[in-house]
Amino acid sequence: QDRPQSAGFLNSVSLVWKLGSSGSRQFFFRVLGFAKVHSSAIIGYARSQLSNDDLRKRVAGYLKAEKNALQDGKSVTSKFLNIITYVSGPYDSKVGFEQLESAIHTREIVEMEGPDSDQSTRRLFYLALPPSVYPLVCKMIHENCMNKHGWTRVIVEKPFGKDLSSAEELSRQLGELFTEDQLYRIDHYLGKEIVQNLLVMRFANRFFVPLWNRDNIANVQIVFRENFGTEGRGGYFDEYGIIRDIIQNHLLQVLCLVAMEKPVSVNPEDIRDEKVKVLKAVQPIKDEDVVIGQYEGYKDDPTVPDDSNTPTFATVVLRINNERWDGVPFIIKAGKALDSRKAEIRVQFKDVPGDIFKCNKQGRNEFVMRLQPSEAMYMKLTVKKPGLEMGGTQSELDLSYRERYQDVVIPEAYERLLLDTIRGDQQHFVRRDELKVAWEIFTPLLHRIDCGKIKCSTYPQGSRGPPESDALAQRVGYKRTIGY
Ligand code: BG6
Repeated sequence: QDRPQSAGFLNSVSLVWKLGSSGSRQFFFRVLGFAKVHSSAIIGYARSQLSNDDLRKRVAGYLKAEKNALQDGKSVTSKFLNIITYVSGPYDSKVGFEQLESAIHTREIVEMEGPDSDQSTRRLFYLALPPSVYPLVCKMIHENCMNKHGWTRVIVEKPFGKDLSSAEELSRQLGELFTEDQLYRIDHYLGKEIVQNLLVMRFANRFFVPLWNRDNIANVQIVFRENFGTEGRGGYFDEYGIIRDIIQNHLLQVLCLVAMEKPVSVNPEDIRDEKVKVLKAVQPIKDEDVVIGQYEGYKDDPTVPDDSNTPTFATVVLRINNERWDGVPFIIKAGKALDSRKAEIRVQFKDVPGDIFKCNKQGRNEFVMRLQPSEAMYMKLTVKKPGLEMGGTQSELDLSYRERYQDVVIPEAYERLLLDTIRGDQQHFVRRDELKVAWEIFTPLLHRIDCGKIKCSTYPQGSRGPPESDALAQRVGYKRTIGY
């Protein structure tokens, strides 16, 4: 495809990765469909000994282009695979990174001498690595591979640290090497269609503007469910647990967009300023507002210690102390090995005063945004029961993206965020101060869990999680709908 306007195409991308680690990398290859393939290069760097062809074969399995698609008479897939090369080397070897630099440079010279060249080049390093080696690899990149003819940007994946002090240390180390506008802390939830829609939906609709506050909203739930367990990632997962893996980053980012005040503009810094403000208003988490659980069978994974207290499920009630949200609980829930795979935001409104139709009995108004599967937004509301009777029943106003936007391909989150990186747009990336406040919120709770002061209950695989979680949501005011 042609690159979209304003996307500076890439001349070189270095993927420094741990082979076999991250499923996200498949999107990387797809997004480069937006770049001018013939003037881009993807250079893999990892420890395994591989030939260019070995890597191309691995990548081929992830490509989504139609097998027989042609461009200028040539197969799109093979054109794309041809821009991929590989350099093998350790993370701590100057020689290895010099070889990487030489591979990048050789490719760039060809480009800079080309007839279309504007004499500048762009370098994007994507670190799909354990965070423990970020400082080392970043130092190697900084010493050996910085671009002298254009920008250098580095994408890092979470987890950014394990708690406030380790995150601060990581930020400090990376901050000595790269400026904030060179560093892209990716949180792929910020690239999801419905998450990106939150700001537009909230601030471009008169419907919502006057209702979005403590006077009308009873509670907000932000829920992530997966119907599979840690699946071979037990060793990694056990060090982190569901709060660090999902809640402190993905769901907290969603909360920011649900709860923040209107930014003065759509400028990335204005938006991120508001996100930081709302995070600063989140109150310390009390033990009574927390339920943690571990699914039965989690410890069967040989890489998980027998005495592990690492939660695979957590419900945490967050309270925001500001004029808009005082008294409204934000119920944040995430779990693995549950009964379904779903991520949604559920805003539940207060009861109707003077309820002549007994509608409060059937269920409250709710506005639900489903992030996945099948993006949708729907409103649950009371209507007259169709037919001769006069009475209320619960129904929905439903905007299902698949039906409404049949001709639109909704991009994968990574696809969009990688394109943003190429364009230099940091709106959907986590700023350093944002990260710090996010850790400030969760670190005391995490330490209480890590030292066993709060214990996991167990729950059967394929269930809704520990029953205490539903009880907690109801205790803080969530009313389950009967009529839906
Ligand atoms: C990752 C977590 O960040 O997000 C995984 O590390 C989780 O544990 C994944 O499975 C979920 O992403 P998505 O987009 O499938 O909801």
